[in-house]
Amino acid sequence: MSALNQSAVIGVIGAGAMGAGIAQVAAQAGHQVKLYDNREGVAQTSIDSMAKQLAKLVERNKFTVDQVQQILARLSVANSLEDFSDTGLVVEAIVENIDVKKSIFDALETICSANCILASNTSSISITRLAAGMKHPERMVGMHFFNPAPIMKLVEVVSGLATDSEVATCVYETALNWGKKPVYAASTPGFIVNRVARPFYAESFRLRQEQVADCATLDALLKGAGGFRMGAFELTDMIGHDVNYAVTCSVFDAYYGDFRFQPSLIQKDLVDAGFLGRKSGQGFYSYKEGADKPQAQCVEVSPLDDGAVIKCEVSKDIGYFKGLVDRLSRAGVQVTEVSDLAKGYLKIGDTFVALTDGRMACERGKDEALNDLVLVDLALDYQSTTHIALSRSASTSEGAFNDVVQCFDLVGIKVSEVVDSPALVVMRTVAMLANEAADAVLQGVASAEGVDTAMCFGLNYPQGPLAWADAIGVAEIDKVLTHLQQSYGEDRYRPSLLIRRIAMVEGRFHD
Ligand code: NAI
Repeated sequence: MSALNQSAVIGVIGAGAMGAGIAQVAAQAGHQVKLYDNREGVAQTSIDSMAKQLAKLVERNKFTVDQVQQILARLSVANSLEDFSDTGLVVEAIVENIDVKKSIFDALETICSANCILASNTSSISITRLAAGMKHPERMVGMHFFNPAPIMKLVEVVSGLATDSEVATCVYETALNWGKKPVYAASTPGFIVNRVARPFYAESFRLRQEQVADCATLDALLKGAGGFRMGAFELTDMIGHDVNYAVTCSVFDAYYGDFRFQPSLIQKDLVDAGFLGRKSGQGFYSYKEGADKPQAQCVEVSPLDDGAVIKCEVSKDIGYFKGLVDRLSRAGVQVTEVSDLAKGYLKIGDTFVALTDGRMACERGKDEALNDLVLVDLALDYQSTTHIALSRSASTSEGAFNDVVQCFDLVGIKVSEVVDSPALVVMRTVAMLANEAADAVLQGVASAEGVDTAMCFGLNYPQGPLAWADAIGVAEIDKVLTHLQQSYGEDRYRPSLLIRRIAMVEGRFHD
């Protein structure tokens, strides 16, 4: 089934944050849209505020006055569900309560024509459960937009057990016509984004709980080195800890307490205290008037002696560090390739420097009999990163560590020293995101391409987790996860079978 024709009337139920946005998207795409809310006057108020938003877009030359008039002319208020009898697609965006949603769909089945598609924007309710008991469960589908719907590109098209694949295709193609980036997903807890994103929060919370670094430093590293738009602490402060904690708990429960999704005690504490984030004036950070925003802790650099030249030896196969080595050369560091240095190592002065492989520096130093060892965190791109986390083994001298810091300073990379901990900050986060993404693919929730698209367009990730795993090497990610699992002795870090399988054949997620 191809996309709905522009002449199809779209019904939207619920004129709150999401419903209003979805109605606007459909009207912008040229459909007549009927908007219904059971609170008197709310649908009209939503359309009025949409008019104000669109007027601002005219000022910014995104639309002409004429276009806005046409969009608004396509929007109308439905006074009751009976008004939906001529719709081709109804998108429900009401309160997240299965009983209330089910009663709406029961009513729609008797009102709408047999070929009208019924869609829910639910973020957490199973589409299979919503469709159960319907006369025509095959026309029930998830159409999960992201907030704010007119801006966020992603739409998860969610199929329950009974959803007709042609119905899903039609919704997918329609979303494409609406200028969205749709991805197919099977109806499993959290669908794609709300499931695969859990480690982004969980690993930062754990690093904080284990006092590896403070919140501001961890946030700064995820942004400066990882390329994420926001760190986990500022992001959850913005989302609201009540909301974010509830999603984590619901995913954890839905997966029968799989420890991979274990909620965090430090977040629960915030919820218990009523420190819900920005909206309550206090979360991980304070938003009270005059409160200072904490700054990341960076290592103070002692200046290089006049005329001093930093010497750096690199192994023949430098792997993911290539960008860093190129950057060092360009900055005047004397880089020499040597054959007796183990794969992936740099030697700055007398200090051995390596990308974290998930072992702590103390462990790796002992395993490999290296006295002065500094581990480097993952960066999205070593050519352009502005900030990096380093850790060192206890036997690494101050001078040896300082040589490495000076070297990074020379190329304009700030250093935060974090407590010696498995897989540092960005590597640990990315490895766990890739692991969850791989499990979603393994379990048929979505394709590798679908998962990566979802994470980039639903949460603005700088790169899909599986494309990232390909760039680092899936075998490396497997190694990092295995080391994390060994260090903690916890099931939480078990590598996905799919990561294992691909690592064994030195394969990739994407061609
Ligand atoms: P909201 O609270 O802003 O709006 C819900 C609207 O539905 C309200 O205006 C309410 O009056 C109306 N409503 C409630 N029961 C109704 C009924 N029986 N009949 C007609 N109207 C009814 O909620 P929001 O945030 O727009 O969420 C709506 C749905 O979208 C939920 O299922 C939520 O899980 C989902 N969602 C929310 C996202 C978000 O970031 N807020 C993101 C993606 C999905």
